[in-house]
Amino acid sequence: MLYPEEIIEEVRLRNDIVDVVSGYIKLERKGKSYFGLCPFHNEKSPSFCVEPTKQFFYCFGCNKGGSVIQFIMNIEHLEFVDALKFLADRAGIQLPEPEDSNEREKAKIRKDILEINREAARFFYSFLAGSEGLKAQAYLKSRGLAEGTIRQFGLGLSPNGWSTLTDHLLSKGASSDLLLASGLSVKSKNGGLIDRFRNRIMFPIFDIRGNVIGFGGRVIDGSGPKYVNSPDTPVYDKSRELYGLNFARKSKSKRLLLLEGYMDVISLHQAGIDYAVASLGTALTQMQAWILKKYSEEIIIAYDADSAGQRATLRGLDILEKAGCNVRVLIIPQGKDPDEYVRNYGPEKFKNLIEGAISLLDYKIRVRKNMHNLDTVEDKLKLLNSIADILAAHDNQIERELYSKSYAEQYGISLEALQSEIMKRMRGRQVPENKRVDTAAVNLPRIDKRYGESEYMLLVMLCNENRLYPKVVSQYGIDSFMDEGAKKIAKRLYEKLERDNSCVIAELVNGLEPALASYLVHLAETKCNVEDVEKAVLHLLNRLEILKLEDLQKDTIEKIKNETDGIKRQELGLEFSHRAARIAQLKKMSN
Ligand code: UTP
Ligand code: MN
Repeated sequence: MLYPEEIIEEVRLRNDIVDVVSGYIKLERKGKSYFGLCPFHNEKSPSFCVEPTKQFFYCFGCNKGGSVIQFIMNIEHLEFVDALKFLADRAGIQLPEPEDSNEREKAKIRKDILEINREAARFFYSFLAGSEGLKAQAYLKSRGLAEGTIRQFGLGLSPNGWSTLTDHLLSKGASSDLLLASGLSVKSKNGGLIDRFRNRIMFPIFDIRGNVIGFGGRVIDGSGPKYVNSPDTPVYDKSRELYGLNFARKSKSKRLLLLEGYMDVISLHQAGIDYAVASLGTALTQMQAWILKKYSEEIIIAYDADSAGQRATLRGLDILEKAGCNVRVLIIPQGKDPDEYVRNYGPEKFKNLIEGAISLLDYKIRVRKNMHNLDTVEDKLKLLNSIADILAAHDNQIERELYSKSYAEQYGISLEALQSEIMKRMRGRQVPENKRVDTAAVNLPRIDKRYGESEYMLLVMLCNENRLYPKVVSQYGIDSFMDEGAKKIAKRLYEKLERDNSCVIAELVNGLEPALASYLVHLAETKCNVEDVEKAVLHLLNRLEILKLEDLQKDTIEKIKNETDGIKRQELGLEFSHRAARIAQLKKMSN
């Protein structure tokens, strides 16, 4: 382990799992536990459970579970060490330098890339301000961008030469490896390094801390692709960054406005709508949805009105909805994009559009409606079916009823017909939900067929009831463990119990790989959730002893088969029947 156990435990303790999980999904209290929609599989009714007293989460649908650390590993797609850093940051804990030289190396590369990126951004910025940047300056002015906006967003210009930036950075002492790793340079056909970005308006991309993590470069005079972007690098992962979020998260507004383009974001910020962000030239990802949710109470999505934009909107809506976001859709009249609209009509008009943004259901139905013209009976039927599909898939009963009424009126269809269509679909949907696949079998770590489950259960029970330790250790010491994985964990647990007299499940699973953590929490929530822990432990110890005795019996049978000496055979037979009596006794005690 990279960090001492006490530090890992400190990080866990200072991050309440209910708080942390609430940052990603909506939780509702039910009795002692909290429930919500599982972020790790697709579901319509909540089976994701957070136990505040035990400080672990578990999904009864997909069987993922663990402490707050595994939650962050899963949801942020982080390795253990990075999840730990993430949570340490969140709790304001300073982690010691990692011992592992590999980690140190990676951290160094990230730091170097951030530095070189910043240097490149400075270079582009001054190049734009210089004499060779006049044309680009004029272009930006023609797009309505003010001096201050260009400065705020750090816009720049990349030179037209083959390797101007590359040469500049090399002269500053950067290595070729670093230039390639940062994505600023690429290998040319003859093996030398050349600039990735040439003669383009440069948009630096910032993370929320204001580091320059990558660039987008737009053509000025129509050759090549419209945008060239940095590739994913050790500091840049497109699936989790949002352009403009470093500014938007500081906005007073509780909203975030989700747009498609760099120019849209910049233009809206300039117009005073300082809560605009954009995904970076790719379809919105689940990760971005969670991040959006973390920083806002409501998300207004304003993609282009063309059909590609409509498709992107629908996909984005699904993803945002799945993340539990409140979403509305902003419709821009006359197929303009947000940048154009705000420049032509001003911020006030744009704010009106925001106020008039429509609900997700309205939007979905509107898109369907546009696909049919409602002149024929056939078209009306298709629309009725689409509306029923959409409403049946909608979770909220009250909204379903309200919308049914309003759509029936609006589109001249009978309310009864619509409602019965919705019911039909909802009944159809119940089936797969009940037949939920038990993915525990799929995610299970490899465990010993005979001993594994009982041994892991013993460990879980021991966490539930630490005072049973002396009893357990005297009957089932480390050497008794047959399952290799359980043995390793038992070692840690026994040591902890010797040292601190205490260990809970969440602590035990700290640092375990996610599948194993899930398995232990799964046992805790299902098979080990009993009233009388002591009785259950005795039962387990019995069961384990029976297994051991049965193994010995098998051995003895083999020996008897191979034994030619009559006296020895008799002795073995006696041994066998004594043991059989003990097994019978144990089985009786267990019943
Ligand atoms: P747009 O074509 O709408 O660009 O693409 P834009 O930013 O509004 O630029 P203007 O207004 O035409 O100058 C939206 C976003 O899609 C990504 C970029 O992130 C862009 O901001 N994109 C687009 C690419 O990554 N590559 C492309 O070739 C085009
Ligand atoms: Mn645009």
